Amino acid sequence: MSSHGTLRPMTSRKCGPLSGEARVPGDKSISHRSLILGALSVGETHVTGLLEGGDVLDTAKAMRAFGADVERVGDGEWRIHGVGVGGFAEPEDVIDCGNAGTGVRLIMGAMATTDITATFTGDASLRSRPMGRVTDPLALFGTQSHGRSGGRLPLTIVGAANPVPVRYATPMPSAQVKSAVLLAGLNAPGETVVIEQEATRDHTERMLAGFGAEITTEITDEGRVITLKGQPELTGQTIVVPRDPSSAAFPVVAALLVEGSDILVPNIGLNPTRAGLFTTLTEMGADITFENPHSEGGEPVADLRVRFGPLKGITVPPERAPSMIDEYPILAVLAATASGKTVMKGIKEMRVKECDRIDAMARGLEACGVKIEETEDSLTIYGMGKIPGGATCVTHLDHRIAMSFMCLGMITEKPVKIDDAAAIETSFPDFVPLMERLGASFQKNNQ
Ligand code: S3P
Repeated sequence: MSSHGTLRPMTSRKCGPLSGEARVPGDKSISHRSLILGALSVGETHVTGLLEGGDVLDTAKAMRAFGADVERVGDGEWRIHGVGVGGFAEPEDVIDCGNAGTGVRLIMGAMATTDITATFTGDASLRSRPMGRVTDPLALFGTQSHGRSGGRLPLTIVGAANPVPVRYATPMPSAQVKSAVLLAGLNAPGETVVIEQEATRDHTERMLAGFGAEITTEITDEGRVITLKGQPELTGQTIVVPRDPSSAAFPVVAALLVEGSDILVPNIGLNPTRAGLFTTLTEMGADITFENPHSEGGEPVADLRVRFGPLKGITVPPERAPSMIDEYPILAVLAATASGKTVMKGIKEMRVKECDRIDAMARGLEACGVKIEETEDSLTIYGMGKIPGGATCVTHLDHRIAMSFMCLGMITEKPVKIDDAAAIETSFPDFVPLMERLGASFQKNNQ
């Protein structure tokens, strides 16, 4: 739903081959972290390529509310003068994180060990999401939290005045939980340790090291043991944000869907903890080449050249889920056109994203005539030659569901409509014009 509460429906129609270059926006995870770590540093942080989507802009506002000086100096170019670890001021008003689970969870961690109180809220999607997964470990530092039933927003955090360091094994594979604990550990004395069974995205660890923290990761029998030495002095950095692999997924998959397509998607971040989709696509037989590989801001980056070709269904193993957790919705669309069936296992974390993404994809694909099977933590899609389409898919304030069904409509017999395109703004504000430039046929509908 748009910020004014009115729905913005949109239709996607069958189109000809896609061609050209898709310059997708900056990485959302790295953009949030650039602002938060910049705010916790001393001196100036200079960021280029920042994603200027709703989620990240809400984090920028929040960092101002905690006392940092955050300034936009050009297109995607931002300057932050931080307050230093432990220097957050108490916000004067409620912090509204909009649609952003990453924003709210990381910020709660970043303020949890400072002697201040802050109240957080968000849109209807964010207010329905579980926060106990973050407030439970924060309580171990001495932080208090008071939220609605089920630990949901609006929620007030009373930061620990005398925090103690924490040793915490994350009960689910979640970079947001890991990062919230590490950010809280910054202002606790001694060593904070997070242990994860499966590797989740490691941008927080890489960036903390870049800002000057002492942080190590060891692979042991217990899992990945991440140790952070508390109360470092973080110093401002220059950050070049790579383009977001999770946003690249949409034009990449669209080119694999539409016969005859051949596109280039330049400068995409290919951190191994994020690149599971590209492994999966290659296993399905996709023609993707990784050109000009290099490193930017401590992250591996390459240009992706993608050409249409026949694909086969595969079983995506559960251990790959953390490295492509946001990409299953668009993979489900592609699987509908691959030969045979595609089985996605170990994906129950999808149920607690901006919406229950297994359910949203299952219902929308079924409505478009695709055969699916769903369990609590898996989704199976039966590929077919021609997909009927002709349905209105419900997007539940979820950007990735909205973009996935817009891509599906590019190859269905009848157009696919989505009930609301507004959420796309949160992560990929240029999605519609960028896809139209490649050759997509999208149309805004009046309600
Ligand atoms: C993110 C982590 C993931 C992902 C989200 C961004 C991050 O969530 O779904 O879009 O930047 O840390 P979880 O850590 O909860 O899996």
